[in-house]
Amino acid sequence: MPPTTTSSPGVRQTAFRFRCIACGDLSDKARQDFRCARCGDLLEITYPHWKESGEGHELKSTWRQRRLSQSAIDLSGVWRFRDVLPGLENDDQAITLREGNTPLYELPQCARITGVPHLFAKHQGMNPTGSFKDAGMTVAASFARLAGFRWVACASTGNTSASMAAYAARGGMRSLVLVPDGKISWSKLSQALDYGAVTCQLRTDFDGCLRLLQELVLRAPVYQLNSINPFRLEGQKTLALELMEQLDWQPPDHIIVPGGNLGNSSAIGKALVEMRELGLISRLPKLSVIQAEGANALVRTVREAAGKLLVSVQAETRATAIRIGNPASWKKAVNVLEATEGACEQVTEVEIAQAKAEIGAEGIGCEPASAVTLAGLKKLVKQGFVKPAESVVLVLTGNLLKDPDFTINFHRGELFKGTPDEELSAALKPLRRPPIVLDATLDAVMRTLEQAEK
Ligand code: F0G
Repeated sequence: MPPTTTSSPGVRQTAFRFRCIACGDLSDKARQDFRCARCGDLLEITYPHWKESGEGHELKSTWRQRRLSQSAIDLSGVWRFRDVLPGLENDDQAITLREGNTPLYELPQCARITGVPHLFAKHQGMNPTGSFKDAGMTVAASFARLAGFRWVACASTGNTSASMAAYAARGGMRSLVLVPDGKISWSKLSQALDYGAVTCQLRTDFDGCLRLLQELVLRAPVYQLNSINPFRLEGQKTLALELMEQLDWQPPDHIIVPGGNLGNSSAIGKALVEMRELGLISRLPKLSVIQAEGANALVRTVREAAGKLLVSVQAETRATAIRIGNPASWKKAVNVLEATEGACEQVTEVEIAQAKAEIGAEGIGCEPASAVTLAGLKKLVKQGFVKPAESVVLVLTGNLLKDPDFTINFHRGELFKGTPDEELSAALKPLRRPPIVLDATLDAVMRTLEQAEK
């Protein structure tokens, strides 16, 4: 019998170690910057005692059973999968906001637009703070508190900071946020403030914020919660587990994710490989990563350096969540592309705006960075990489309400005004629904209704 530590079904403590992704060095402890003590590369979490096969069936039924439980740990769509996560000694150690449990939606209109009938969206924007970050944060924040830290910190384009601030507050810790001044959306900034973070708007970009944080954590007793922290990626893995469960363990042909700092693609790829090792799925979906053309470090790394050397860029895009030029997890992402035979593509600002409006018109909506997935899918179909008969899941990473300025400017026709993209974006006019200012008369409203019917 594995050691059972609580009363809920199937709970066991999952032993883990850190492994360097470059030199393979194994260790029981990680430095505060989560870099290999021998070679300085990134660490990942590994589970030496996992059986290679035969556990799949048992795990599936344990996870299904936990859906009937009302305990906080089982109501979390992350900790419900705790058998494949770093183990806690007891349930109370988890800081949870009932993250995960996100919907898988069909996208009938986008299916028609792309010519791919089996098209779905896994909407991570339906998490407690409105982004996929919560799935990783519940795990990493719990381990921060377990390690006795009073302060946690991150560099962020907005979503990580919102999520970190929430989990720190729930866990009784203080949080320090480093964000690029003027380059994150107001909604995300307001979340960090509301959840009580000490928020520093630095006169630099995201890459500058992350560089500074890496130095800070070596000097101050502050626990870093960026996706360099491998506990974050373990939590983010559960997106893929939950997705497969929703699809009755029949993997789709393709999963498409946005790429910024490249933690999420790395986490999903790790989950897919582990699921196959555990016998939970029999084949790997192709995992493709899409970037904004102005923040295309991975695309260039793959095309210009065959994935061997990072080609960093000076990032610029209206999809501020992925405005990142020097992605920390690029090596992990390259490995995932190779393991799953996925593609890497880039999309323009106008393509992002169009795709975002099309996802909005499905009654779902997402933030701009998430819309790169649909824009990328259109390209991958055109290239023949995605075939019409294949099934595709887009990972929508952030909620529509994360960036209202983008949405309102788009519908008002102001998003590209006075820029070189203005002419190109004129083609998007039929997608725009600008607010209409009227006299408060029945007549005026009736006329508007009639016009809209035409
Ligand atoms: N989509 C959204 C909405 C994001 O906020 C991010 C990253 C990504 C995609 C890219 O994911 O970095 O794992 O490749 N946001 C980070 C932040 C960087 O600070 O909130 P990634």
